Amino acid sequence: MAATEKEILQVRELTKSFYGVAANDKVSFSLRNGEVHGLLGENGAGKSTLCSILAGLYRPDSGDVILNSERIRFRSPLDASNMGIGMVHQHFKLISSFTVAENMVLGLNAKSRNISLGTVEDEVRELARQYGLDVEPSAHVWQLSVGEQQRVEILRQLFRGARILILDEPTAVLAPQECDRLFEAVRHMVERDHSVILVSHKMDEILSNTDRVTVLVGGRNAGTLRTNETDAAELAKLMIGSDHLPKLANKSLRRFVESTPVLTIRDLEVIGDRGTEAVSGASLEVLSGQIVGVAGVAGNGQREFQQAIVGRRQISGGSIMLRGRDITQLSSRARSRSGLAYVPEDRLGTGLASGLTLEENLILKSYNEPPYSHRGVLSTAVITAAAEKLVKDFDIRGARSGMPVSLMSGGNLQKAILARELSRPHDLLLAASPTRGLDLAATASVRQHIRADTEKGGAVLLFSEDLGEIVELSDLILVLAGGRIVGSYTPATLDISELGLLMTGAKVHN
Ligand SMILES: Nc1ncnc2c1ncn2[C@@H]1O[C@H](COP(=O)(O)OP(=O)(O)OP(=O)(O)O)[C@@H](O)[C@H]1O
Ligand SMILES: [Mg+2]
Repeated sequence: MAATEKEILQVRELTKSFYGVAANDKVSFSLRNGEVHGLLGENGAGKSTLCSILAGLYRPDSGDVILNSERIRFRSPLDASNMGIGMVHQHFKLISSFTVAENMVLGLNAKSRNISLGTVEDEVRELARQYGLDVEPSAHVWQLSVGEQQRVEILRQLFRGARILILDEPTAVLAPQECDRLFEAVRHMVERDHSVILVSHKMDEILSNTDRVTVLVGGRNAGTLRTNETDAAELAKLMIGSDHLPKLANKSLRRFVESTPVLTIRDLEVIGDRGTEAVSGASLEVLSGQIVGVAGVAGNGQREFQQAIVGRRQISGGSIMLRGRDITQLSSRARSRSGLAYVPEDRLGTGLASGLTLEENLILKSYNEPPYSHRGVLSTAVITAAAEKLVKDFDIRGARSGMPVSLMSGGNLQKAILARELSRPHDLLLAASPTRGLDLAATASVRQHIRADTEKGGAVLLFSEDLGEIVELSDLILVLAGGRIVGSYTPATLDISELGLLMTGAKVHN
């Protein structure tokens, strides 16, 4: 790689506290010209906070940021952007009703906004070609897949002349093939003298795509190492302060002899955003006590499938039954009330109410039911006690009284959704990439919660792009490709390479 020893960006003893707790605690860090620098750390370790300071989003309480040997203070993200630092956030910040090109110029000052959209489109097309970030500049953002939206975010920063790109957990939302494409784009960036900060929870990703890696623990730098001089074991040890990683529980062999169907879907047809068929004639059944995993590459109908099940998208054919009751015509609220719990992929968009506190979010769906409410009167004591128990059971960290959940770390948000959905009475849990963005310990704990749910007779329909997760949890694995269920395996009949072929062999619809 093109990395040199020259430091382009330095951070000295940066401290940033929220509600009296330090998210960054005298953290020091440096970025070299042309390097990919990995940032590792458990949920809540302060990775996003550090990145946000570098991108001008937060002002540090103390410490220095030095760019090209000059001490700087950003007053806004625009400041940082003008100095060549651009960040792609964990939660995208695009305006979905605008086109790709319109999003490029969004927030730029009036002078630069004067360029015609046609010119912007041409420039974006050229950038897309150079960096291998394929996307149509005239498309509306709402039409794009998550992977495409991410490419738009990256292009947006490149369009604005970013020399330093900060990617906060970019692969958490991507399918394996898309990850490869992203890292190819990252290589194009460093070849063109850009420097990249890459936040990730995936050790192999850090090991194969970075030049150096910094581990954050509790807001401090626990060590910066050359990637080719370290390995997963050493990094894990640094990260959790011990080499004793939590063991994943062995999957118990469950039997479904007396099981009854909880979810029955027949011949489901769903139209996607672009008017084409996203799900075509899909049928499946989830039995009580069973985890059914749906494997597939993103963009093969998973999103539309889930939306149809929870009632957020009209279906054009077929039926959905929950415990023998046809819920096809019910509203999403009514489905939720009839026993459908949902952990969506989009944590802040559809999962949580970003302006409410954690406590409020945890009882969001049950606040008007006993024991939280009696004859229309909310019982604050009961609510607080229930919320406290969930926070403890699910190890949700970083919430403070009165603080909106939107300020919590990505991983802790995910735990909060799970806590809320699993704690409500439900027959079926529909979970989409439930451990995406979680660290090792949190991943193990979330999987344990999901398993425990089925041990009590619940049923789980799991969508995940993480094949390892599907294999580890599922009693039955279905393969979704091109909107169709093209394969089905039990743990006994599982053939991973065949499954991989089914997943990827099918043409990805676009
Ligand atoms: N704007 C904010 N207001 C209040 N607290 C915050 C804010 N931003 C971050 N925090 C807190 O600071 C701590 C560090 O959070 P941060 O988002 O930096 O972690 P992270 O390492 O990115 O974690 P994750 O892997 O879960 O994304 C957390 O406890 C979080 O709740
Ligand atoms: Mg984060």
